[in-house]
Amino acid sequence: MNWLKRKRITNAGDPKGFWGVVTLANMNDDHAELTDEGLKKIEIKKDAVCLDIGCGGGRTLARLSNLAPQGKIYGVDISGTAVKCAKLYNAAAVRKGLISVKKGSALALPFPENTFDTVTAVETFYFWDNKVQCVKNIKEVLKDGGKFIVMLDAYEDGSGDNEEIKREIKIDFNTPEELENIFKSAGFAKTEVIKEGKRIYAIGTK
Ligand SMILES: C[S@@+](CC[C@H](N)C(=O)[O-])C[C@H]1O[C@@H](n2cnc3c(N)ncnc32)[C@H](O)[C@@H]1O
Repeated sequence: MNWLKRKRITNAGDPKGFWGVVTLANMNDDHAELTDEGLKKIEIKKDAVCLDIGCGGGRTLARLSNLAPQGKIYGVDISGTAVKCAKLYNAAAVRKGLISVKKGSALALPFPENTFDTVTAVETFYFWDNKVQCVKNIKEVLKDGGKFIVMLDAYEDGSGDNEEIKREIKIDFNTPEELENIFKSAGFAKTEVIKEGKRIYAIGTK
């Protein structure tokens, strides 16, 4: 692995400092197609209230705000650098009160129950501790009928493709079956797992 790729990979799970900012900007571009394809798989009403967990550099927040111009979009991330970058990326919408970003973790979501129509998580699920508890937390903050979508550019498929990354950082790739079981264990009665090449989407409906 070359040094640039290593810098980026070691900053993916909790971006910090200069290389964190570079990585966040790159991720906005690199995850654009995954995100845009994922957002086509769920309906987002014009007045939807949405949460993006692990919002990184903030591009998904902007996409959600475009889809729900009469709604409100929230972002959380464990990284203070990500929170700053996401606010800067969405400066105009933040000023207008359409987007709000704060520090927070999937394990301790700073929102009341039954708040959101949609919760998204793009390229972040690999890094979460205690995933069943995180998904339970998400189910609680969703409204009845609300949807949670996980979007990932990679999953565990036995090909060995993820081994190089696993040697560099603490990261947990799931199989499609594991994803489905995590959603079911967290109480999502209706779950759907969609594989598209190396990509995977998992959708739970409350
Ligand atoms: C690979 S980046 C993806 C960022 C963005 N979603 C994107 O697609 O460009 C993963 C992000 O998830 C955040 N993160 C990791 N664990 C988290 C957790 N438990 N709760 C909230 N955010 C988390 C990291 O700080 C980082 O900004």
